[in-house]
This record gives sequence, C-alpha cells and structure tokens, in this order.
Amino acid sequence: MSSKILIANWKMNGTLDFCFSYFESLGKEVAPPMLPERARNIVFCAPFPYLFALQGRLLEKGYSLGGQDCAAYDAGAYTGEVSAAMLSDTGVSYVLVGHSERRSYLGESNEICRLKIQQAHDKGLTVIYCIGETLSQRKEGALENVLKEQIQDALPKSVTYENTLLAYEPVWAIGTGQTPTLEDIEETHMLIKALAGSHCKNYSARVLYGGSLNEKNAREILALSKVDGALVGGASLKPEKMAQIISLMPENV
Ligand code: 13P
Repeated sequence: MSSKILIANWKMNGTLDFCFSYFESLGKEVAPPMLPERARNIVFCAPFPYLFALQGRLLEKGYSLGGQDCAAYDAGAYTGEVSAAMLSDTGVSYVLVGHSERRSYLGESNEICRLKIQQAHDKGLTVIYCIGETLSQRKEGALENVLKEQIQDALPKSVTYENTLLAYEPVWAIGTGQTPTLEDIEETHMLIKALAGSHCKNYSARVLYGGSLNEKNAREILALSKVDGALVGGASLKPEKMAQIISLMPENV
C-alpha cells in the first residue's frame, strides 16, 4: 500500500509562540517518533510569516512544510504576493492552490489557479489543488460538471503523480461538522480520478479528502481505498487531535 498523505491547513491562525509550542506538544503525543519516510508525508501549511521560523523544527522531525497559496506570477510589482520561488527558498515543498475560501472571498478563478499551479511546478513545488462543490451546486445535481470544470480549466499538462495532489473538499463540509457519507466520498474520489485521467493522459491522481475530518472520523475515511490522504483544517490546530489523526493513518494503525 502506498503511504497516505496528511496535510494540516492552519489557515490564518496561530502566533509564533503557538508554532513553537505546537511542535513540542506534537512531539510528546506522537510516540514513538515516526520514520523519516512516513513523517515526510505529513505536511504543515502554516501562515507565510511563520514558515521560515518553522523550517528547522519541522525538517528536523522529518515533517514537510507547505504554503497556503502562491502568486500567479514569477516576480515583480505584485504588492503583498508571495511567489512560488520565495516559498521554495523558505524550505517549502508543498503549496495549496484553489482553496474554496480563496475562491469565494478573493474571487480566485480556475484560470488563476492554472497560473499558480504552473508557477509552483516551475519552481519544483508539489501542488495540492483544492476542488469541490457548494451545497446548492450539489442540490442542483451539478457536482460532476463543477469538478470537471475545476479540473479541465486549471490543470496544466505538466501535472504528474508526483507534482500534483488533488484535494476534494465539499464546500458545505468545511468547518461545519458535516461530511459526505463514506460511499459518497469513495464514489466522488473515483469520479475525480477518472476526470483527471481523461483530462491529462497518464495522470494517475492522488485524491485527498478534506472537510470536517477529525480524530473521530479519520479512521474510517482514511481507510477508504480511493482516499489517498486528508486535508485537515480545524482539528489540525490542536496538537493532541493532530497526533491522534496521525496515529489513525492506515500504515500506523
Ligand atoms: P475543516 O477541517 O476545519 O473543516 O477545514 C477543512 C479545510 O478547509 C482544509 O483545507
């Protein structure tokens, strides 16, 4: 079985003190320490200002570091933006693109996501591209079309198994405590893999699940064969919950 991947998305939370004490607590909770090849598949997407400070602590434990976004452009007069090259300089190896919060609050389109994905690939980062439907799209029966557009309009032909992960995050499941049924998750992941494979020949996409995943439901969701890992928001902010989720990854059970 290939190793599943766990991504913590801290969103705009935390302080520098939080960052430092988090990894001390996590270290005490995750026992025994993980083998480097396992730890590498656990990724912490921290806010930009803390990435550099976290680099040493994370890498020393073998965990990977991720950014929550990157600019759609290489460099230049883009005030406030952070480029993929800057992330890479900071020890980051993964980057989230197209999170639904950025799509809805900042109007990020599939076309912008495409530019960001291309930038990330050019700088050697692994992209975690987030897709998913709103509740009204689901109720209208538009799930497949929404996912198809998000995939077709944003995934450049440079996608490979290694450089791009897809994260299925139904918008209505994010931060709500609601999740699709296990059958729904399995079925939608299968659909996403098929859509991605028909858009980019030879692309065998790994698909992570995100949306109210926590220490209580992680075991059954992560055990699903079409689920290649998880993207965790709220629960990842508590080291003791994150440690439990880590312990529930199939290879650690
Ligand atoms: P929650 O786990 O808080 O629902 O957030 C999911 C998410 O948006 C991760 O990117």
